[in-house]
Amino acid sequence: MLTFDDFSPETAAEPAKKMQGAAPSPIVASAPPAPATTPSLFPAAAVAASPVAPQASLASEGVVNLTGVEEIAFAAGRIRVDDKRIINCHADLNQLVPFKYEWAWQKYLDGCANHWMPQEISMNRDIALWKDPKGLTEDERTIIKRNLGFFSTADSLVANNLVLAIYRHITNPECRQYLLRQAFEEAVHTHAYQYVVESLGLDEGEIFNMYREVDCIHDKDAFQLQFTQELADPNFNTGTPETDKRFLRNLIGYYVIMEGLFFYVGFVQMLSFGRQNKMTGASEQFQYILRDESMHLNFGIDMINQIKNENPHLWTPEFQQEITDLIKQGVELEYRYAADTMPRGVLGLNVQMFHEYLRFVANRRMRQIGLPEEYAGVKNPFPWMSEMIDLKKEKNFFETRVIDYQTGGALSWD
Ligand SMILES: [Fe+2]
Ligand SMILES: [Fe+2]
Repeated sequence: MLTFDDFSPETAAEPAKKMQGAAPSPIVASAPPAPATTPSLFPAAAVAASPVAPQASLASEGVVNLTGVEEIAFAAGRIRVDDKRIINCHADLNQLVPFKYEWAWQKYLDGCANHWMPQEISMNRDIALWKDPKGLTEDERTIIKRNLGFFSTADSLVANNLVLAIYRHITNPECRQYLLRQAFEEAVHTHAYQYVVESLGLDEGEIFNMYREVDCIHDKDAFQLQFTQELADPNFNTGTPETDKRFLRNLIGYYVIMEGLFFYVGFVQMLSFGRQNKMTGASEQFQYILRDESMHLNFGIDMINQIKNENPHLWTPEFQQEITDLIKQGVELEYRYAADTMPRGVLGLNVQMFHEYLRFVANRRMRQIGLPEEYAGVKNPFPWMSEMIDLKKEKNFFETRVIDYQTGGALSWD
């Protein structure tokens, strides 16, 4: 069962010395024999070369990171588990096995086991309630529209960051396998918001333009986009302490702040409708999305902690302070979003509760990536959120699911 803290303890607990003591790879290319854009993978001469330089010094020697599209080095040495690293790895990126990061493969399997599609959820009751002039208050309608406005483009930002910024620099096949699954899930989420907008007959131009027209949404997205822009630069490469920190900052920006903080006011608000038996279809869509997102978050935390363990020189006091400041900035941006979406108390919620909740969540996120908590004495005003995240798909909370996902075993070849 998934839990709120379902990241892998071994990534957080693993001492840095474990990686420091790892044997250097016998198949590391000692220098790029080809132009930077098309380095050859494991050229025979490099395979035979021994001893090789330790990983940490490769960047300074001008070694180009592999991407997986290098020429195939026929009959090169076989990959060993110890050759694998999350970033700056110089072992073949096209061989999934042998596994090194079992947690990444397990999360890929868990993601597949939780497959769902937006059309599986009936929106009929939502449509009737939305069309009833007395069905919802104006404040309730504002919350729904604002959240569709934020999430409908936020998931595109996340997907673009995955595909255009970070994928190229993750040099591990089992992590890439999860990233591919996650990218599809982000597409499903964008589909879910479009499906709700279409079902309710909302003005799609108004909803999908909110990130360009509503201050608090724009500011959260602009905060995130800066991380994507840094890495999407074709000249950006990991391999130096400075660029590796920028890469880590992107991962923390998206997995911890975007998916682990910026989504949570919306999740609480949308799930609160379902708890009051209102907008149960939209609420259930968000419940499934929340479960996917908590897995994305936990995968991100595992990856961040593993990179820290493999590269302890990156986690300097100055860098930790920089990350802490970013998370605090994120708390303020998300609080502004809460205040904008609900200027008055509604659904049993009020903005003061979010003031407390965001600090509670931020403390948790800081702890998860090994930073001290920043906000003393805060408590979770929404303990029911943990139950929502832990809910297994089979236990359908609102019982509005209309069809079962058709598995391969159900196909007929007649
Ligand atoms: Fe998503
Ligand atoms: Fe996500």
